[in-house]
Amino acid sequence: MRILGIETSCDETSAAVVEETGDPATPWAIRSNVVASQVVIHREWGGVVPELASRQHIRDICGVVDRALADAASTWRDLGAIAVTQGPGLVGSLLVGVSFAKAAAAASGLPLVAVHHLAGHIESLFLQHGPLPLPAMVLVVSGGHTSLYDVRSPGHYRAIGRTRDDAAGEAYDKVAKLVGLGYPGGPVIDRLAKGGNERAIAFPTARMTHPDRNQPLQKGQWDFSFSGLKTAVLRYVRAQSEGWQPSEQEVADICASFQRSVVGALVDKTFAAARWYGARSVGIAGGVSANSRLRADAAAAGARAGLPVFVPSIALSTDNAAMIAAAGLRRFHAGMRADLTLNADPALALES
Ligand code: KG4
Ligand code: ZN
Repeated sequence: MRILGIETSCDETSAAVVEETGDPATPWAIRSNVVASQVVIHREWGGVVPELASRQHIRDICGVVDRALADAASTWRDLGAIAVTQGPGLVGSLLVGVSFAKAAAAASGLPLVAVHHLAGHIESLFLQHGPLPLPAMVLVVSGGHTSLYDVRSPGHYRAIGRTRDDAAGEAYDKVAKLVGLGYPGGPVIDRLAKGGNERAIAFPTARMTHPDRNQPLQKGQWDFSFSGLKTAVLRYVRAQSEGWQPSEQEVADICASFQRSVVGALVDKTFAAARWYGARSVGIAGGVSANSRLRADAAAAGARAGLPVFVPSIALSTDNAAMIAAAGLRRFHAGMRADLTLNADPALALES
């Protein structure tokens, strides 16, 4: 069966066709995955402007879906279902995808499946690698979320930790803005950090005390917090003389020192939680999982802990509809269907 996935939760309009292979080792094959990015539009404003995002989704959605079908050499008749991101995200943006998917389902008679955006990010791991050794400790780290999930069976996610303030990607974007690097901040900080000294500035590290198996877990043990780090970068910049223009090296040093803190906190907590919950593998998904330092440090921590570490390809790390199609297939087979009363939900919870 082939499924059409549609994703419009933030600033990417995406459509994809994913097909079941019948091979349990790699059950899903991506036939197409088209992403129209709005980055150039929002860059001018230093971040995503919701009203501009929804208007651009409206302009792009028909062309993106046509292209996804054409790339997959498919027509509507070749599809078995339509999956769409219901939430969380920007409500105006979500509504474009949800309305399009409902209209397409009504016109084609195809069943409609509603997908949680983070279930899509988690599914990107299974889409790329096939079944992961379970239980898996999965970190979803994006512009809007930083959450840890204990995954004991495919499609069932138990949230065990989340950020108390900024998401990690949001911290990257805010720090990049602060030092004049533009939007989105993640990729540019990732690149510039390679030329910087990560020990140049002692930003606070959210290092944790590792839980003792004989003691009860503390509440919020697996939560993250990045706003203190963001404020420390702000203070560092403000503490310089007035009109300070950092040199290229100074910017690289700020990027490297900031990144060391963020990645240290993410890797530390994810592996401590993996140990605590007896995970047999670790997964990292979401836009920030594209980060080269996070990938390298997680791989090294995995080798030390004897745990396999899975990340999606770069294209499947950031927002895309193939991951929504894959999550949609899983829900479809679990008997989940949405009807034409489906509405976008900007604060949708990820239920297990
Ligand atoms: O998953 P995603 O595409 O959208 C959301 O669901 O939020 O994640 C976007 C976030 C942005 O904050 C962006 O700066 C960050 O992912 N990002 C990165 C990298 N590439 C994208 N952060 C760090 N390093 C990267 N290479
Ligand atoms: Zn996302």
